[in-house]
Amino acid sequence: MSESVVEIKDLWVSLGHDFILREINLEIHRGTFLGFIGPNGGGKTTLLQVILGLIKPNRGEVRVFGRPPGHHKNKGLIGYVPQRAFADLSFPVSVFDVVMMGRYSKIGLWHKATIEDRRQVLEILEAVEMAHLRDRPIGHLSGGEQQRVFIAQALASKPQMLLLDEPTSGIDSKAQGAFYGLLGRLRKELSLTMVLVSHDIGAVPYHTDEIACLNQRLHLHGKSTEVLDGNGLKKVYGCEVEMLVHGKIPHRVIGEHRD
Ligand SMILES: Nc1ncnc2c1ncn2[C@@H]1O[C@H](COP(=O)(O)OP(=O)(O)OP(=O)(O)O)[C@@H](O)[C@H]1O
Ligand SMILES: [Mg+2]
Repeated sequence: MSESVVEIKDLWVSLGHDFILREINLEIHRGTFLGFIGPNGGGKTTLLQVILGLIKPNRGEVRVFGRPPGHHKNKGLIGYVPQRAFADLSFPVSVFDVVMMGRYSKIGLWHKATIEDRRQVLEILEAVEMAHLRDRPIGHLSGGEQQRVFIAQALASKPQMLLLDEPTSGIDSKAQGAFYGLLGRLRKELSLTMVLVSHDIGAVPYHTDEIACLNQRLHLHGKSTEVLDGNGLKKVYGCEVEMLVHGKIPHRVIGEHRD
């Protein structure tokens, strides 16, 4: 069994009166591509922010690269593309500079970028096929192009793990195919562990190794190939359809969910 990059035991999180995450147990192994699906408000973004150390759990144990989340040694090891990161059209910063900002988590805000930093930024821009637009203001790109730049920004610190929160929202279906292709290639080239949150239940099982359904509690954490073999797919669709029908918890789905 390969090394665990993320280990979560009995995690509970409340941000207001109520618990948003309940009794979450999760292990993400190095090199895995994990896809999260689940309804709006199910706690997907919250869980990513717990892994990043931005939200403190009320209860439970979380280890990221063997350390508490947010530990200074984890800095630069995790790339994060937040939900709806699209830039304002008037934002006057070039594509190159947006990606360079991602390097500052490694080199520190007050250090001048070196030739090597600039080389690395260009390399990652080439990897996401955006090097030709490096001098363009970020606001003058399409949503799909901006998304590639934000992925480059998240990768600029040479992280070992990439967290993507709904990166395909606002991208047409043809561009989505190319986008998943790009993720697969980056993952191989950079030996990344990847976590993807998406509502695109049709595509997620095809592009990930494992799939999990988050609706306050974690369900159906299993191999995407099993999910794809008929019955499993029905289960995941059942999960999603059931959640759409009944909204947030409590809900039950074809004997798979424990709550
Ligand atoms: N700062 C906050 N204070 C109080 N409640 C919050 C806060 N942030 C999020 N929540 C609530 O926590 C719940 C989970 O939110 P979260 O953003 O994690 O859901 P999500 O699964 O990412 O949803 P979506 O699919 O819509 O992005 C929601 O009900 C939300 O209203
Ligand atoms: Mg979210």
